[in-house]
Amino acid sequence: MKIRAVYPGTFDPVTNGHLDLIQRSAKLFDEVIVAILRNTDKTPLFTVEERVRMLRQVVRGQKDVSVTTFGGLLVDFAVQMKASVIVRGIRAVSDYEYELQMALMNRRLSPNLATVFLMPAEAYSYLSSRLVKEISQLGGSVRGLVPPLVVRELQKKHRSMRLREKPTK
Ligand code: PNS
Repeated sequence: MKIRAVYPGTFDPVTNGHLDLIQRSAKLFDEVIVAILRNTDKTPLFTVEERVRMLRQVVRGQKDVSVTTFGGLLVDFAVQMKASVIVRGIRAVSDYEYELQMALMNRRLSPNLATVFLMPAEAYSYLSSRLVKEISQLGGSVRGLVPPLVVRELQKKHRSMRLREKPTK
């Protein structure tokens, strides 16, 4: 039986840590669906469309990996996609409490779905989209932390935001 996994998240933006997890998942499961949450409480830097485009470009050529969006409950989406596994990354102990809570709640909602926790390479254990955005907004280098395409997209985004923020005389 083929095992299909869903790897959900905000991916604002995708980092090398996310890519590491996608590659690990693709080795373990027959099919991996990277699923971007549409209706998040957070105010994202990139629109859903921009995030889909970036993710699709960086996973291009990876067999059995697809990128899509979802709304509503993750378990409903996973069942709809006929997935049996939800993949989540755990970088440090600090991630565990929240992830455990979510995994157990998802199990309660849909007992046949299993959450699998994967650890990214140590080099990415301190990496997060939030820090990447902050560093890049303040002019620091995020090279090596995100794919080159994302480095460019971040620069573009911050440039356009600075232009918009310029006070009019
Ligand atoms: O990358 P993130 O932001 O940590 O991902 C969080 C995400 C998208 C996995 C989580 O917020 C989620 O699954 N949202 C969908 C709504 C849902 O199912 N909520 C109940 C979770 S127990």
